[in-house]
Amino acid sequence: MEKIHSLSGMLDLISHKTQKEDIANRIFHTEEILRNIFEGYSFSEIRTPALESSSLFKRSVGDTSDIVNKELYSFFDKNEKSITLRPEGTASVIRSVVQKKIENEKHKLWYLGPMWRYERPQKGRYRQFYQAGIEILGYPEGLAELEIVSIICSINKALGLENTVIKINHLGNNETKQNYCEALKEFLVPLSSKLDDKDLERLNKNPLRILDSKNADTQEILKDGPKIIDYLSDSALDTLNIIKDTFSDDCDIEIDPNLVRGLDYYTGFVFEAVSSSLGAQDAYIGGGRYDELCKQLGGKDLPAIGMAIGIERLASLAKTYKESKTLISFIILSSNIEPKAYKIAHKLRSLNNSIDIDVQLSDGSLKSKLRRANKDNAAYALILGEDEFKSKNIIIKSLLDVDSEQVTMSFKDIDSFIEKIK
Ligand code: HAM
Repeated sequence: MEKIHSLSGMLDLISHKTQKEDIANRIFHTEEILRNIFEGYSFSEIRTPALESSSLFKRSVGDTSDIVNKELYSFFDKNEKSITLRPEGTASVIRSVVQKKIENEKHKLWYLGPMWRYERPQKGRYRQFYQAGIEILGYPEGLAELEIVSIICSINKALGLENTVIKINHLGNNETKQNYCEALKEFLVPLSSKLDDKDLERLNKNPLRILDSKNADTQEILKDGPKIIDYLSDSALDTLNIIKDTFSDDCDIEIDPNLVRGLDYYTGFVFEAVSSSLGAQDAYIGGGRYDELCKQLGGKDLPAIGMAIGIERLASLAKTYKESKTLISFIILSSNIEPKAYKIAHKLRSLNNSIDIDVQLSDGSLKSKLRRANKDNAAYALILGEDEFKSKNIIIKSLLDVDSEQVTMSFKDIDSFIEKIK
Protein backbone atom coordinates (compact mmCIF):
# COMPACT_ATOMS: atom_id res chain seq x y z
CA MET A 1 0.00 0.00 0.00
CA GLU A 2 1.18 3.53 -0.72
CA LYS A 3 2.86 5.12 2.31
CA ILE A 4 1.60 8.41 3.68
CA HIS A 5 4.23 11.12 4.23
CA SER A 6 4.18 14.26 6.34
CA LEU A 7 3.43 17.51 4.53
CA SER A 8 6.29 19.44 3.01
CA GLY A 9 7.96 21.83 5.49
CA MET A 10 6.54 20.05 8.55
CA LEU A 11 8.90 18.17 10.85
CA ASP A 12 8.43 15.10 13.04
CA LEU A 13 10.47 15.47 16.20
CA ILE A 14 11.47 12.22 17.85
CA SER A 15 13.80 12.53 20.78
CA HIS A 16 16.54 9.94 21.36
CA LYS A 17 17.65 9.78 24.97
CA THR A 18 21.28 9.11 24.12
CA GLN A 19 21.73 11.63 21.30
CA LYS A 20 21.91 14.99 23.04
CA GLU A 21 22.89 16.89 19.91
CA ASP A 22 19.97 15.56 17.90
CA ILE A 23 17.67 18.38 16.71
CA ALA A 24 14.63 17.02 18.59
CA ASN A 25 16.60 16.93 21.85
CA ARG A 26 17.98 20.41 21.20
CA ILE A 27 14.48 21.74 20.58
CA PHE A 28 12.98 20.21 23.73
CA HIS A 29 15.93 21.41 25.81
CA THR A 30 15.67 24.92 24.32
CA GLU A 31 11.97 25.05 25.16
CA GLU A 32 12.71 24.09 28.76
CA ILE A 33 15.39 26.78 29.09
CA LEU A 34 13.05 29.42 27.63
CA ARG A 35 10.21 28.47 29.99
CA ASN A 36 12.60 28.83 32.95
CA ILE A 37 13.83 32.22 31.75
CA PHE A 38 10.29 33.57 31.21
CA GLU A 39 9.14 32.35 34.60
CA GLY A 40 12.32 33.78 36.14
CA TYR A 41 11.34 37.22 34.78
CA SER A 42 7.90 36.71 36.34
CA PHE A 43 5.93 36.24 33.12
CA SER A 44 2.69 34.19 33.13
CA GLU A 45 1.79 31.63 30.49
CA ILE A 46 -1.00 32.22 27.97
CA ARG A 47 -2.33 29.56 25.58
CA THR A 48 -4.58 30.60 22.72
CA PRO A 49 -6.21 28.40 20.03
CA ALA A 50 -4.28 27.43 16.90
CA LEU A 51 -7.29 28.38 14.76
CA GLU A 52 -8.66 31.92 14.61
CA SER A 53 -11.04 33.89 12.39
CA SER A 54 -9.14 34.86 9.24
CA SER A 55 -10.05 38.52 9.75
CA LEU A 56 -7.90 38.64 12.92
CA PHE A 57 -4.67 38.37 10.96
CA LYS A 58 -5.82 40.61 8.11
CA ARG A 59 -6.55 43.36 10.63
CA SER A 60 -3.35 42.94 12.66
CA VAL A 61 -0.43 41.46 10.74
CA GLY A 62 -1.71 43.56 7.82
CA ASP A 63 -2.79 43.47 4.19
CA THR A 64 0.62 44.54 2.89
CA SER A 65 2.59 41.86 4.74
CA ASP A 66 3.88 38.76 2.92
CA ILE A 67 2.28 36.67 5.66
CA VAL A 68 -1.26 37.83 4.87
CA ASN A 69 -0.72 38.17 1.12
CA LYS A 70 0.51 34.70 0.39
CA GLU A 71 1.41 32.65 3.44
CA LEU A 72 -1.81 32.07 5.38
CA TYR A 73 -3.22 28.59 5.83
CA SER A 74 -6.84 29.71 5.45
CA PHE A 75 -9.87 27.60 4.65
CA PHE A 76 -13.62 27.45 5.18
CA ASP A 77 -14.98 25.32 8.00
CA LYS A 78 -18.19 23.30 7.75
CA ASN A 79 -20.14 26.48 8.48
CA GLU A 80 -18.54 28.36 5.57
CA LYS A 81 -16.61 30.55 8.04
CA SER A 82 -13.11 31.56 6.92
CA ILE A 83 -10.62 30.37 9.52
CA THR A 84 -6.82 30.49 9.62
CA LEU A 85 -4.09 28.51 11.33
CA ARG A 86 -2.25 31.21 13.27
CA PRO A 87 0.91 32.43 11.52
CA GLU A 88 2.12 34.15 14.74
CA GLY A 89 1.00 34.65 18.34
CA THR A 90 0.74 38.38 18.99
CA ALA A 91 -2.62 38.96 17.28
CA SER A 92 -4.22 36.10 19.23
CA VAL A 93 -2.84 37.39 22.56
CA ILE A 94 -4.35 40.84 21.96
CA ARG A 95 -7.61 39.33 20.67
CA SER A 96 -7.81 37.32 23.89
CA VAL A 97 -7.07 40.28 26.18
CA VAL A 98 -9.71 42.40 24.39
CA GLN A 99 -12.25 39.56 24.46
CA LYS A 100 -11.73 39.04 28.20
CA LYS A 101 -11.92 42.81 28.76
CA ILE A 102 -8.65 42.83 30.71
CA GLU A 103 -6.86 45.44 28.63
CA ASN A 104 -6.98 47.95 31.52
CA GLU A 105 -4.59 45.77 33.49
CA LYS A 106 -0.88 45.28 32.99
CA HIS A 107 0.33 41.87 31.77
CA LYS A 108 3.61 40.08 31.20
CA LEU A 109 2.71 36.99 29.17
CA TRP A 110 4.62 34.16 27.48
CA TYR A 111 3.55 31.45 25.08
CA LEU A 112 4.97 28.57 23.14
CA GLY A 113 3.41 26.65 20.30
CA PRO A 114 3.26 25.80 16.61
CA MET A 115 2.65 28.47 13.96
CA TRP A 116 1.92 27.94 10.26
CA ARG A 117 3.10 29.90 7.23
CA TYR A 118 2.88 28.68 3.65
CA GLU A 119 6.46 29.64 2.76
CA ARG A 120 8.89 27.87 0.45
CA PRO A 121 10.61 25.40 2.78
CA GLN A 122 14.39 25.68 3.08
CA LYS A 123 17.04 25.42 5.80
CA GLY A 124 15.61 27.18 8.87
CA ARG A 125 12.28 27.89 7.18
CA TYR A 126 9.35 25.56 7.73
CA ARG A 127 5.62 25.58 7.09
CA GLN A 128 4.92 24.44 10.62
CA PHE A 129 7.43 25.88 13.06
CA TYR A 130 7.48 26.60 16.77
CA GLN A 131 7.64 30.01 18.38
CA ALA A 132 8.08 30.98 21.98
CA GLY A 133 6.98 34.54 22.53
CA ILE A 134 6.48 37.19 25.17
CA GLU A 135 4.13 40.16 25.18
CA ILE A 136 4.47 42.99 27.72
CA LEU A 137 1.14 44.83 27.85
CA GLY A 138 0.26 48.14 29.49
CA TYR A 139 3.76 49.66 29.69
CA PRO A 140 4.77 52.63 27.50
CA GLU A 141 8.23 52.96 25.96
CA GLY A 142 10.95 52.80 28.61
CA LEU A 143 11.73 50.00 31.04
CA ALA A 144 9.75 47.44 29.01
CA GLU A 145 12.26 47.90 26.16
CA LEU A 146 15.12 47.20 28.58
CA GLU A 147 13.32 44.12 29.90
CA ILE A 148 12.93 42.68 26.38
CA VAL A 149 16.60 43.17 25.49
CA SER A 150 17.64 41.82 28.90
CA ILE A 151 15.68 38.63 28.13
CA ILE A 152 17.40 38.26 24.75
CA CYS A 153 20.80 38.58 26.46
CA SER A 154 19.77 35.96 29.04
CA ILE A 155 18.68 33.55 26.29
CA ASN A 156 21.97 34.02 24.44
CA LYS A 157 23.88 33.31 27.63
CA ALA A 158 21.80 30.35 28.84
CA LEU A 159 22.22 28.56 25.50
CA GLY A 160 25.88 29.53 25.03
CA LEU A 161 25.22 31.25 21.68
CA GLU A 162 28.08 32.61 19.61
CA ASN A 163 28.22 35.02 16.63
CA THR A 164 25.01 36.84 17.49
CA VAL A 165 23.97 40.46 17.02
CA ILE A 166 20.86 42.25 18.24
CA LYS A 167 19.86 44.73 15.53
CA ILE A 168 17.71 47.57 16.80
CA ASN A 169 15.87 50.43 15.16
CA HIS A 170 13.06 52.88 15.91
CA LEU A 171 10.13 53.54 13.57
CA GLY A 172 9.24 56.77 15.38
CA ASN A 173 5.76 58.04 16.15
CA ASN A 174 3.03 58.56 13.55
CA GLU A 175 4.36 62.01 12.64
CA THR A 176 7.92 60.71 12.12
CA LYS A 177 6.61 57.82 10.08
CA GLN A 178 4.54 60.13 7.87
CA ASN A 179 7.40 62.60 7.30
CA TYR A 180 9.86 59.83 6.58
CA CYS A 181 7.51 57.97 4.22
CA GLU A 182 6.90 61.20 2.28
CA ALA A 183 10.66 61.76 1.94
CA LEU A 184 11.16 58.13 0.89
CA LYS A 185 8.43 58.43 -1.77
CA GLU A 186 9.87 61.70 -3.03
CA PHE A 187 13.24 60.00 -3.40
CA LEU A 188 11.97 56.76 -4.96
CA VAL A 189 9.18 57.88 -7.30
CA PRO A 190 11.62 59.33 -9.90
CA LEU A 191 13.50 56.00 -9.73
CA SER A 192 10.41 53.79 -9.93
CA SER A 193 11.32 52.38 -13.35
CA LYS A 194 14.24 50.66 -11.58
CA LEU A 195 12.02 48.96 -8.98
CA ASP A 196 10.49 45.50 -9.41
CA ASP A 197 6.70 44.96 -9.17
CA LYS A 198 6.82 43.89 -5.55
CA ASP A 199 8.77 46.96 -4.44
CA LEU A 200 6.51 49.23 -6.53
CA GLU A 201 3.51 47.78 -4.71
CA ARG A 202 5.24 48.38 -1.38
CA LEU A 203 6.03 51.94 -2.40
CA ASN A 204 2.34 52.55 -3.04
CA LYS A 205 0.84 50.67 -0.12
CA ASN A 206 3.42 50.87 2.70
CA PRO A 207 6.67 52.62 1.67
CA LEU A 208 8.50 51.68 4.90
CA ARG A 209 8.40 48.00 3.91
CA ILE A 210 10.60 48.77 0.90
CA LEU A 211 13.56 49.02 3.29
CA ASP A 212 13.09 45.27 3.84
CA SER A 213 13.34 44.53 0.08
CA LYS A 214 15.27 41.40 -0.86
CA ASN A 215 16.14 42.93 -4.26
CA ALA A 216 19.85 43.84 -4.32
CA ASP A 217 19.25 46.65 -6.86
CA THR A 218 16.65 48.25 -4.58
CA GLN A 219 19.05 47.99 -1.65
CA GLU A 220 21.72 49.70 -3.74
CA ILE A 221 19.31 52.55 -4.61
CA LEU A 222 18.32 52.90 -0.95
CA LYS A 223 21.92 53.52 0.11
CA ASP A 224 21.54 57.11 -1.15
CA GLY A 225 17.99 57.49 0.16
CA PRO A 226 16.74 59.23 3.31
CA LYS A 227 17.42 57.42 6.61
CA ILE A 228 14.73 57.11 9.25
CA ILE A 229 17.28 57.85 11.96
CA ASP A 230 17.47 61.46 10.68
CA TYR A 231 13.74 61.89 11.26
CA LEU A 232 13.57 60.47 14.79
CA SER A 233 12.78 62.58 17.85
CA ASP A 234 15.45 62.99 20.53
CA SER A 235 13.53 60.67 22.82
CA ALA A 236 13.45 57.87 20.21
CA LEU A 237 17.20 58.28 19.64
CA ASP A 238 17.70 58.22 23.43
CA THR A 239 15.81 54.92 23.63
CA LEU A 240 18.17 53.32 21.11
CA ASN A 241 21.29 54.70 22.77
CA ILE A 242 20.20 53.76 26.29
CA ILE A 243 19.54 50.17 25.17
CA LYS A 244 22.92 49.99 23.52
CA ASP A 245 24.73 51.46 26.54
CA THR A 246 22.90 49.29 29.08
CA PHE A 247 23.63 45.94 27.47
CA SER A 248 26.73 46.41 25.34
CA ASP A 249 28.86 44.62 28.00
CA ASP A 250 26.67 41.56 27.65
CA CYS A 251 25.50 41.41 24.01
CA ASP A 252 26.51 42.74 20.63
CA ILE A 253 23.94 45.46 19.81
CA GLU A 254 23.85 47.35 16.52
CA ILE A 255 21.58 50.19 15.37
CA ASP A 256 20.31 49.23 11.89
CA PRO A 257 18.34 52.09 10.28
CA ASN A 258 17.02 49.72 7.57
CA LEU A 259 15.37 47.32 10.00
CA VAL A 260 11.58 47.60 9.53
CA ARG A 261 10.16 44.08 10.22
CA GLY A 262 7.67 42.27 8.02
CA LEU A 263 4.46 42.78 10.00
CA ASP A 264 2.38 45.95 9.78
CA TYR A 265 1.54 46.50 13.45
CA TYR A 266 4.88 47.88 14.68
CA THR A 267 5.03 51.47 15.91
CA GLY A 268 8.28 52.36 17.71
CA PHE A 269 11.28 50.33 18.87
CA VAL A 270 11.90 47.24 16.68
CA PHE A 271 14.61 44.60 16.78
CA GLU A 272 15.87 41.28 15.49
CA ALA A 273 18.46 38.93 16.94
CA VAL A 274 20.49 37.41 14.14
CA SER A 275 23.34 34.93 13.89
CA SER A 276 25.82 34.53 11.05
CA SER A 277 25.81 30.77 11.79
CA LEU A 278 22.22 30.43 10.53
CA GLY A 279 22.73 31.09 6.82
CA ALA A 280 20.10 32.93 4.75
CA GLN A 281 17.36 32.76 7.41
CA ASP A 282 19.52 34.46 10.00
CA ALA A 283 16.92 35.93 12.43
CA TYR A 284 16.15 33.75 15.44
CA ILE A 285 14.19 36.44 17.33
CA GLY A 286 12.06 39.30 16.05
CA GLY A 287 9.84 41.81 17.74
CA GLY A 288 9.05 45.36 18.67
CA ARG A 289 6.51 47.82 20.04
CA TYR A 290 2.96 47.80 18.72
CA ASP A 291 1.01 50.46 20.64
CA GLU A 292 -1.89 50.72 18.14
CA LEU A 293 -2.81 47.05 17.74
CA CYS A 294 -5.20 46.75 20.66
CA LYS A 295 -7.31 49.69 19.39
CA GLN A 296 -7.15 48.29 15.86
CA LEU A 297 -8.70 45.09 17.16
CA GLY A 298 -11.58 46.89 18.89
CA GLY A 299 -9.99 47.29 22.32
CA LYS A 300 -8.79 50.26 24.33
CA ASP A 301 -5.47 52.09 24.12
CA LEU A 302 -2.86 49.57 25.23
CA PRO A 303 0.86 50.24 24.92
CA ALA A 304 2.55 46.94 24.11
CA ILE A 305 5.86 45.40 23.16
CA GLY A 306 6.83 41.81 22.47
CA MET A 307 8.95 39.36 20.60
CA ALA A 308 8.89 35.83 19.21
CA ILE A 309 11.68 33.31 19.04
CA GLY A 310 12.00 30.77 16.22
CA ILE A 311 12.62 27.63 18.25
CA GLU A 312 14.10 25.52 15.43
CA ARG A 313 16.59 28.28 14.59
CA LEU A 314 17.49 28.99 18.22
CA ALA A 315 17.87 25.26 18.98
CA SER A 316 20.22 24.79 16.04
CA LEU A 317 22.49 27.48 17.57
CA ALA A 318 22.36 26.16 21.15
CA LYS A 319 25.66 25.04 22.63
CA THR A 320 24.25 23.65 25.87
CA TYR A 321 22.46 20.33 26.16
CA LYS A 322 20.07 18.71 28.55
CA GLU A 323 21.87 17.03 31.45
CA SER A 324 20.74 13.44 31.47
CA LYS A 325 19.82 11.80 34.77
CA THR A 326 21.41 8.58 35.98
CA LEU A 327 19.61 5.74 34.16
CA ILE A 328 18.90 2.35 35.74
CA SER A 329 17.85 -0.47 33.44
CA PHE A 330 15.51 -2.86 35.25
CA ILE A 331 15.64 -6.38 33.84
CA ILE A 332 13.04 -9.04 34.68
CA LEU A 333 14.24 -12.49 33.71
CA SER A 334 11.11 -14.61 34.06
CA SER A 335 7.56 -14.07 32.85
CA ASN A 336 6.35 -15.90 36.00
CA ILE A 337 7.31 -12.99 38.25
CA GLU A 338 6.59 -10.08 35.90
CA PRO A 339 3.78 -8.23 37.77
CA LYS A 340 5.44 -8.68 41.18
CA ALA A 341 8.84 -7.61 39.84
CA TYR A 342 7.25 -4.64 38.12
CA LYS A 343 5.75 -3.60 41.45
CA ILE A 344 9.28 -3.46 42.93
CA ALA A 345 10.42 -1.15 40.13
CA HIS A 346 7.31 0.97 40.68
CA LYS A 347 8.26 1.42 44.34
CA LEU A 348 11.95 2.12 43.58
CA ARG A 349 10.88 4.95 41.24
CA SER A 350 9.14 6.71 44.12
CA LEU A 351 12.34 6.70 46.21
CA ASN A 352 14.43 9.01 44.05
CA ASN A 353 13.21 11.67 41.58
CA SER A 354 16.65 12.42 40.27
CA ILE A 355 17.14 9.08 38.51
CA ASP A 356 15.39 7.41 35.58
CA ILE A 357 14.34 3.76 35.80
CA ASP A 358 13.66 1.98 32.52
CA VAL A 359 11.88 -1.34 33.01
CA GLN A 360 12.65 -3.39 29.93
CA LEU A 361 9.18 -4.41 28.76
CA SER A 362 10.06 -6.96 26.13
CA ASP A 363 10.96 -10.68 26.33
CA GLY A 364 14.51 -11.64 25.56
CA SER A 365 17.73 -13.09 26.89
CA LEU A 366 19.78 -11.46 29.66
CA LYS A 367 22.49 -10.84 27.06
CA SER A 368 20.20 -8.91 24.73
CA LYS A 369 18.74 -6.94 27.61
CA LEU A 370 22.21 -5.97 28.87
CA ARG A 371 23.13 -4.96 25.33
CA ARG A 372 20.09 -2.68 25.24
CA ALA A 373 20.97 -1.24 28.70
CA ASN A 374 24.48 -0.43 27.46
CA LYS A 375 23.13 1.16 24.28
CA ASP A 376 20.89 3.40 26.39
CA ASN A 377 23.91 4.47 28.49
CA ALA A 378 22.41 3.03 31.67
CA ALA A 379 24.67 3.37 34.73
CA TYR A 380 23.38 0.17 36.37
CA ALA A 381 21.34 -2.87 35.46
CA LEU A 382 19.09 -4.29 38.20
CA ILE A 383 18.45 -7.94 37.38
CA LEU A 384 15.64 -9.93 38.90
CA GLY A 385 15.05 -13.62 38.16
CA GLU A 386 12.86 -16.21 39.92
CA ASP A 387 15.64 -17.32 42.31
CA GLU A 388 16.48 -13.78 43.34
CA PHE A 389 12.81 -13.01 43.81
CA LYS A 390 12.31 -16.02 46.08
CA SER A 391 15.30 -15.03 48.23
CA LYS A 392 14.22 -11.33 48.21
CA ASN A 393 17.38 -10.22 46.42
CA ILE A 394 18.28 -8.23 43.31
CA ILE A 395 21.49 -8.36 41.28
CA ILE A 396 23.17 -5.03 40.55
CA LYS A 397 25.61 -4.68 37.72
CA SER A 398 27.54 -1.49 37.19
CA LEU A 399 27.65 -0.82 33.44
CA LEU A 400 29.97 2.17 33.46
CA ASP A 401 32.82 0.28 35.13
CA VAL A 402 33.41 -2.82 32.98
CA ASP A 403 35.79 -4.40 35.52
CA SER A 404 33.42 -4.24 38.45
CA GLU A 405 31.79 -7.44 39.68
CA GLN A 406 28.05 -7.72 39.91
CA VAL A 407 26.69 -7.84 43.46
CA THR A 408 23.56 -9.29 45.00
CA MET A 409 21.63 -7.09 47.43
CA SER A 410 18.58 -7.64 49.56
CA PHE A 411 15.40 -5.72 48.65
CA LYS A 412 15.99 -3.53 51.70
CA ASP A 413 19.56 -2.65 50.77
CA ILE A 414 18.47 -1.91 47.21
CA ASP A 415 16.05 0.70 48.58
CA SER A 416 18.82 2.59 50.34
CA PHE A 417 21.17 2.14 47.36
CA ILE A 418 18.58 3.76 45.07
CA GLU A 419 17.88 6.56 47.54
CA LYS A 420 21.56 7.52 47.62
CA ILE A 421 22.14 7.77 43.84
CA LYS A 422 22.61 11.39 42.75
P1 HAM B 1 8.42 37.21 13.06
O1 HAM B 1 9.66 37.99 12.81
O2 HAM B 1 7.49 37.01 11.92
O3 HAM B 1 7.68 37.94 14.25
O4 HAM B 1 8.79 35.78 13.64
C1 HAM B 1 9.64 35.64 14.76
C2 HAM B 1 10.65 34.54 14.53
O5 HAM B 1 9.98 33.32 14.17
C3 HAM B 1 11.60 34.78 13.38
O6 HAM B 1 12.69 35.60 13.78
C4 HAM B 1 12.07 33.36 13.06
O7 HAM B 1 13.09 32.99 13.95
C5 HAM B 1 10.83 32.54 13.36
N1 HAM B 1 10.15 32.18 12.09
C6 HAM B 1 9.32 32.94 11.36
N2 HAM B 1 8.89 32.27 10.26
C7 HAM B 1 9.48 31.05 10.30
C8 HAM B 1 9.45 29.88 9.46
N3 HAM B 1 8.70 29.82 8.36
N4 HAM B 1 10.20 28.80 9.83
C9 HAM B 1 10.96 28.83 10.96
N5 HAM B 1 11.02 29.91 11.79
C10 HAM B 1 10.30 30.99 11.47
C11 HAM B 1 6.51 37.53 14.78
O8 HAM B 1 5.99 36.45 14.56
C12 HAM B 1 5.92 38.51 15.78
N6 HAM B 1 4.66 37.96 16.30
C13 HAM B 1 6.90 38.78 16.92
C14 HAM B 1 6.35 39.71 17.93
C15 HAM B 1 5.82 39.37 19.14
N7 HAM B 1 6.27 41.03 17.82
C16 HAM B 1 5.70 41.53 18.91
N8 HAM B 1 5.41 40.53 19.71
